Amino acid sequence: MNVSGRLCVVSGASSGIGKATALELAARGARVVLVARRAEVLLELSSQIQAGGGQAWAFPADLSKPQEAFRLGEQVLGELGTPDILIHSAGAGEWRFLDETPIEDLQRLMDTPYFTAAYLTRVFLPAMLKRNQGFILSVCSPASRLVWPGATGYVAARWALHGLTEALRADLHHSHLKVCAFFSGKISDSEYFIRNTHTENRIPRVGRLIPEITSRQAALGIARAIELEARIMFVPWQLYAFDLLARWFPRIAEHLAWNTGARRKGP
Ligand SMILES: NC(=O)c1ccc[n+]([C@@H]2O[C@H](COP(=O)([O-])OP(=O)(O)OC[C@H]3O[C@@H](n4cnc5c(N)ncnc54)[C@H](OP(=O)(O)O)[C@@H]3O)[C@@H](O)[C@H]2O)c1
Repeated sequence: MNVSGRLCVVSGASSGIGKATALELAARGARVVLVARRAEVLLELSSQIQAGGGQAWAFPADLSKPQEAFRLGEQVLGELGTPDILIHSAGAGEWRFLDETPIEDLQRLMDTPYFTAAYLTRVFLPAMLKRNQGFILSVCSPASRLVWPGATGYVAARWALHGLTEALRADLHHSHLKVCAFFSGKISDSEYFIRNTHTENRIPRVGRLIPEITSRQAALGIARAIELEARIMFVPWQLYAFDLLARWFPRIAEHLAWNTGARRKGP
């Protein structure tokens, strides 16, 4: 799908992969709806895009709240029309073992990215189906392909997002809507590991074999996935190689990830 002139809704647009994707799509001529909670950051980004000749609108919303997602849907559909492309990049969550996780955090971990993506898709899907055209892309974590220790709630939420993405693809099989699961390697310049402070040191050491990428490189991959209407994409390619290892030789991949990953204190 050519993105020029298309209406793209990008969640998580105030930072990291979502922000870089919004900038890249706008540079390619897309009309971009920027969604995240921090209104001032979104307004700054929309001004930056408009100053460069692009089209972007800030629509602040906490997508973990169904009523805010619904309000956003009504506003966008009323003011700008039916989106052609949805990008789910809103995400958060500390990496912790389940027994370390405060019980009240378990729901929050599932909120982003799972409920944010489910609500955002739900509010636009009827209109997109009516037009029978569109592309939905979820920024997924490799943790939903190969699990590693010390991140239970995070991993479960990424499986939920990946599951939603695959289930949607099956649901939409007889339509002209396409669905993509985009898998990113570690991002060198995202706020994720600053905002989720106890997380970075829990990346299994075997992960060092996969080069880090910038959020712009992830955005270029996302733009390519849209162009090709890909159903799955990995960036960088070494992540795909590791994924193949995990498919063909799961015990070896598991051994590498589990033995170089975080260890629980005690038994
Ligand atoms: N960083 C990596 O190395 C990496 C690698 C693979 C996959 N991923 C996945 O990619 C996703 C994005 O990562 P990132 O690196 O771009 O993270 P990031 O820089 O922390 O950005 C997360 C974005 O989500 C938004 N957000 C969080 N909660 C929200 C909510 N309730 N409603 C609306 N927006 C919300 C944040 O904005 P506000 O705070 O303004 O709401 C921010 O724009 C995550 O799910 C992550 O697991 C990341």
